[in-house]
Amino acid sequence: MKLIAPSILSADFSRLGEEIKAVELAGADWIHVDVMDGHFVPNITIGPLVAKAARKTTELPLDVHLMIENPDHYLEDFANAGCTYLTIHPEACYHTHRTVHAIRDLGMKPGVALNPATPLSVVEWVMPDVELILVMSVNPGFGGQKFIPQTIEKIKDLKSMIRSKGLDVLVEVDGGVNEDTIKSVSEAGADAFVAGSAIFKSPDYAGTIKRFRSLVGS
Ligand code: DX5
Ligand code: ZN
Repeated sequence: MKLIAPSILSADFSRLGEEIKAVELAGADWIHVDVMDGHFVPNITIGPLVAKAARKTTELPLDVHLMIENPDHYLEDFANAGCTYLTIHPEACYHTHRTVHAIRDLGMKPGVALNPATPLSVVEWVMPDVELILVMSVNPGFGGQKFIPQTIEKIKDLKSMIRSKGLDVLVEVDGGVNEDTIKSVSEAGADAFVAGSAIFKSPDYAGTIKRFRSLVGS
């Protein structure tokens, strides 16, 4: 099963509830929420309050991507906001294993995200503890950037690492996913596709998601 996760980063925030409903009706599987702190990444976006508001507007899983330093300080707030998946960056976290378990203890599904230059070995020993591994295919911080091509090989390596360990972990890809890139990302082994601008800047959300599905064969 391949999963399409529109990133609300590229949505019209003045109509956020309507935008979330629109992608839900258009066939999205998850709603991707990008949280940025202006420290780990050079941009500031939203926090638990907006995640909570998003939770009220949809039944879909909320796939929350924390691009923040010291994520431990905010885990409880995101749990209370009703987040489904909570993904952290080990590059911004001293004790990834502890944080991942804290996320699970709070009733959420933990994920780990890797920047383009971060090797897979950084998450190798927490792989049995997470539900998903998010491979960044752009440098995190902004929507609308160009897909970094060496991500394809990274996804393939990650997929074979997961298989060789006999684990059941989803591979999610985030950044520059569009109609030109999604097929090769899927063939490399990705299970979940985050797309911000390719969906929210398109005139027809349902048409775009439908084309995505036909390109990934699901
Ligand atoms: C980037 C975010 C992405 C972003 C992707 O830091 O993590 O989720 O919204 O945007 P597009 O799909 O436009 O590259
Ligand atoms: Zn993201």
